[in-house]
Amino acid sequence: MQTVVLAAGQGTRMRPLTARRPKPMLPVADRPLVAHTAAAAVAAGASRLVLVVGYEADAVREQFGDTYAGVPVTYADQRSQRGTADAVRAARPHLEDGPFAVLNGDALYDRPSLAALYDAAPAVGSFRVDDPSVYGVLETVDRGDDAVATGVVEKPADPPSDLINAGAYAFPAAAQDWLDVPESSRGEHELTDVLGRVCEAADVRAVPFDRWLDVGRPWELLAANEWKLGAAERAVRGDVHPDAECRGAVVVEDGARVDRGVVVEGPTRIRAGATVGPNAYVRGATLVGPDATVGHAVEVKNSVLMAGATVGHLSYVGDSILGRNVNFGAGTTVANLRHDDADVRTRVKDETVSTGRRKFGAVCGDGVKTGVQTSLNAGVVLPTDSRTGPGESVLRSPQSRE
Ligand code: G1P
Repeated sequence: MQTVVLAAGQGTRMRPLTARRPKPMLPVADRPLVAHTAAAAVAAGASRLVLVVGYEADAVREQFGDTYAGVPVTYADQRSQRGTADAVRAARPHLEDGPFAVLNGDALYDRPSLAALYDAAPAVGSFRVDDPSVYGVLETVDRGDDAVATGVVEKPADPPSDLINAGAYAFPAAAQDWLDVPESSRGEHELTDVLGRVCEAADVRAVPFDRWLDVGRPWELLAANEWKLGAAERAVRGDVHPDAECRGAVVVEDGARVDRGVVVEGPTRIRAGATVGPNAYVRGATLVGPDATVGHAVEVKNSVLMAGATVGHLSYVGDSILGRNVNFGAGTTVANLRHDDADVRTRVKDETVSTGRRKFGAVCGDGVKTGVQTSLNAGVVLPTDSRTGPGESVLRSPQSRE
């Protein structure tokens, strides 16, 4: 089925990580987030992909080119981001007559769930979550063996159920004419209103997804990497010193170097051009990005280091995300646990929110540099290109204009 992938959003809840790249291009294991969406769609039976691009569109175009995994790719420009129905409206000229699927490009899906969605068309993907109030909650009725969707209640304060809309739709051909929906209360043209119309016209099956992850907030980028790094098989191809030890599902790409005395515990991927060690300890679901450096006596646990990030000497990085070309001065230490064991809180869009994680460290925008012996408190977010001085303790996230 022809499949539209929504990849135009700015990802404001991911700031500062999305200050210079669109959210769908955030790194997850061996590729950007949206490439996992596209790969799952193609494996599930997508015949062609229409990528809706907008914010930092060139990055997405360069990633995919004209074909992906053997299917043609075309691009639709959504010039101003006016909602998901507006995004699909931008894709409409690229669609052939017939049914079509739409997938949020900032979520991870598994292939069998998408295959079930395509098979059940018209259908919407559903998933059970602990906190439905931040999603659209599906209203359903039971019809025989199937749950049939009757509509979506967006972000309800008092959710009627824990079954949410996973942002994956298989629409009938007629829905191509139903994309002009009025603005919602948040001032957007919403695909869920299109779904409402489809539900009035046909039985829309709510297809339960086995696995799904919305990647909207920084700790969900860690969760995405935990998923995809955990799914990879061991492959040690790069230059690994005989006195280094790679335990479990470790991937060392061609062109990566792991020096003497290093211990790597999978699931971990060390990308091409990266160097680790000597005498470093890398563990948990950790992604060491292209050309990144993890130096002597550095411990990195359950973290994402984007391209060119450097943690050179005597540092600890736990449950953290370091943007492109971040540089940690010697002895920089990240706290990732509170003494009271409560879930770590962090800043998302100028609000302090719970990450739902007992362990969560720091989020550093691209180009951050820390002075020697900097200590970063759990949940601290440092803006793009910001600096800390020698010996500085950052207890709270500085105000950001990003
Ligand atoms: C959108 C949909 C919502 C759905 C969510 C899934 O919300 O409107 O129904 O549950 O995607 O990620 P948005 O992310 O635009 O707030």
